[in-house]
Amino acid sequence: MKKSSVGVLGVGAIGSVISSQLIENLGLELSHFNRSKKEEIKINTPFGEKAYPIDCQLVATKIYDLDWLVICLKEHHFKSAKNWFENLITSKTKVAVIRNGLNLKAPLLPFLDASQILECMIDCPTQLDKKGVYQQFSKAKITTPKSELASEFSILFNKEKIEFHQVADFKTASWKKLIESASLGAITCLNLNTCEIFSQPRFVNEYLALIDEAMKIALADGAKIHKNYTNELLRKLKSYPPEKGSSMLSDRLAGKPIEIGAKSGIIVKIGKRLGIETPLHSKAVGQLIEINSKNKAT
Ligand SMILES: NC(=O)c1ccc[n+]([C@@H]2O[C@H](COP(=O)([O-])OP(=O)(O)OC[C@H]3O[C@@H](n4cnc5c(N)ncnc54)[C@H](OP(=O)(O)O)[C@@H]3O)[C@@H](O)[C@H]2O)c1
Repeated sequence: MKKSSVGVLGVGAIGSVISSQLIENLGLELSHFNRSKKEEIKINTPFGEKAYPIDCQLVATKIYDLDWLVICLKEHHFKSAKNWFENLITSKTKVAVIRNGLNLKAPLLPFLDASQILECMIDCPTQLDKKGVYQQFSKAKITTPKSELASEFSILFNKEKIEFHQVADFKTASWKKLIESASLGAITCLNLNTCEIFSQPRFVNEYLALIDEAMKIALADGAKIHKNYTNELLRKLKSYPPEKGSSMLSDRLAGKPIEIGAKSGIIVKIGKRLGIETPLHSKAVGQLIEINSKNKAT
């Protein structure tokens, strides 16, 4: 029987998590695509360490005829990745896009029909350590819209090692994650501090104000979020260990570009479209852009 052909585009933290799961599926022919050379994947997962060589392509040199392309890029990487989309997506290719933010299908619509694109939200803290090994801190959890496409994608994986959740209202689920991660991320990143900062009441108040502003946009955009969600986030905040950081803080500390467009940036953008002002998230975006502009990495 012909093997299904699957490509992973973006072999960073999440791309390595996904590859390390797919490599176990012997019914797949797995390809890797990245902008810089990667010769092997080294990852420490909750199920043990893995290291295996990959033949990572830096340009698409042939027709790959992929059944699935799994895109694991950050929001700001999409602009420079158009060449990949043109070359790797054929009429039969289905695309799973795994990233933070909202409206994940939008940058891909020039390349394939919306019905062939699966939006995926991943919960899976993973970081590169000093030895070049990705540390995956917990079992990956992928949330998708409830669909046939989601079921088809999930059968590529071993369900004991990765959780799949199909939800009827993906927009609401995405907004809930965004409200928390953009607000917590902005405060920790801009103040170069972990959740320890919330021992000071003024930062808790700032956090609540950012949540409140984002909630207004989410509700106007059609997300169905209960007013109690703010209290839920406050309880969650109190349960976090002081050393908990955020991906935005980690990116800043590592000198990497902060993913603004998938956090406060999208809140401001949707606010503008809906005619609702977002002074707090707009201010955060301005400050984050300034930090990114001093940073040469892409
Ligand atoms: N890491 C986490 O813990 C985590 C958790 C939940 C959600 N997420 C989300 O998952 C998404 C992916 O994040 P990540 O942490 O995996 O990012 P990452 O570690 O920075 O990986 C991105 C990969 O994409 C590659 N890339 C960038 N531009 C490219 C291009 N034009 N063509 C080909 N490859 C390109 C990068 O190549 P280089 O090797 O050249 O940099 C890198 O290997 C983001 O939206 C993030 O917010 C991440």
